[in-house]
Amino acid sequence: MPEFDFTRLRRAPDVEAPNLQAWDATDELLVREALASGIPGDEIAVIGDAYGAITLALADAGMRGIRVHQDLVTGRRALARNAATLGITDGTDAARRAAPGHAGDKADDLENPAFAQHELDESLLSGTRLVLLQLPKSLAELDEIADAIARWAEPDAMLIAGGRVKHMALGQNDVLARHFENVQPQRAERKSRLIMARILRRPDAPPPFPVSTRHSFAGETPTSARDPRAEQGSRAELGVSAGSRAEVGRSADGLTLCAYGGAFAGDRIDIGTRVLLGVLPDIRSSEVVIDLGCGTGALAAAYALAHPASRVIATDRSAAAVRSARATMAANGITNVEVTIDDAGSELPDNTADLVLLNPPFHLGNAVDEAAGHRLIEAAARLTNPGGEVWTVFNSHLDHRRVLQREVGPTEQVERTSKFTVTKSTKR
Ligand SMILES: C[S@@+](CC[C@H](N)C(=O)[O-])C[C@H]1O[C@@H](n2cnc3c(N)ncnc32)[C@H](O)[C@@H]1O
Repeated sequence: MPEFDFTRLRRAPDVEAPNLQAWDATDELLVREALASGIPGDEIAVIGDAYGAITLALADAGMRGIRVHQDLVTGRRALARNAATLGITDGTDAARRAAPGHAGDKADDLENPAFAQHELDESLLSGTRLVLLQLPKSLAELDEIADAIARWAEPDAMLIAGGRVKHMALGQNDVLARHFENVQPQRAERKSRLIMARILRRPDAPPPFPVSTRHSFAGETPTSARDPRAEQGSRAELGVSAGSRAEVGRSADGLTLCAYGGAFAGDRIDIGTRVLLGVLPDIRSSEVVIDLGCGTGALAAAYALAHPASRVIATDRSAAAVRSARATMAANGITNVEVTIDDAGSELPDNTADLVLLNPPFHLGNAVDEAAGHRLIEAAARLTNPGGEVWTVFNSHLDHRRVLQREVGPTEQVERTSKFTVTKSTKR
């Protein structure tokens, strides 16, 4: 059988650049092991397949019924597009309907598609005997994934996890060892390494996520951003009242943040977020507000509590973020926030909002890149009504102010700490 041609894969709609590719050597090693295992596609789950390289290489080798979980909607859309380009059938309903040439698919392919997308739940893992995992960046995310495998996969299931050696840490073995009796890191190959984990430890406690923490606003501003101690980022100094279970109820003197494993900053309030929360009382009341890249929903929730008559749309490309933000709204009794999964608000019409709150990412995977932030700034410009405002917090060394000025309109600095800048841009 000819080798799968990984170079045909694209990252779009995610950021594309000459130094960024849609697959890596870890994908190739995971595919090799899966093919060697002899386990059929409908007993395999693939988790963290960035742009679909693993799934599509296995499908190209004839496997059917592979279950896939990708956290990012950009990855899900890239997989659907790559599958359509390669003529591989996607059993994920929305993607299958959207795929060009869908009408001409053979009935057999539709009944027995190569793969289908799942959330990180029992439907992804029940009946699976092999799980292929591109190791996530955070240990919390790995913990949540390993717990799910140990909870729902077949008793004899094996996990093969892999990553680039430079991004791997011993802590990953420790997390895996909490969920599997036998964890064996392999020798590095082509700067990647696989870890084989066998004999799962079935948990008898409920799933460990979401975690939650109550953050106090001390009565007035929901932050100590202007307090130099806030830059330290320590929980004790944040007015955190701790606890892993959410107190439910609407209250303007604090906020309960809930987080699944893959969500940005977990159930902590990130330093940049806190700086923007510090100027929240200066932000006008608006009818329709978007929290673009909402993470666990801290900005949307704080705004919604302060402006109960506003309609807030909190949107993120990460499924973990969206589940977290929904849990945050529920934990605070907030009903005027709608949480959606989307890539840079692409499903929202132009001029949707009078106000956009933006704390853009500045890491793209493991490569620092401003392009991801610029994409969200361009989206904020498109989504804001003329005369509306975009409030942005960013690491002061980034060139975002110039881009905001160009894409949105006149931009002024509202706040600056040793690390972060907050700007207000008025849509021209
Ligand atoms: C720095 S975090 C901010 C999270 C939250 N707004 C806060 O202040 O705590 C950036 C968020 O943007 C999200 N993000 C990155 N690129 C995105 C895109 N293209 N579309 C939607 N969300 C995106 C990330 O998943 C992440 O949750």
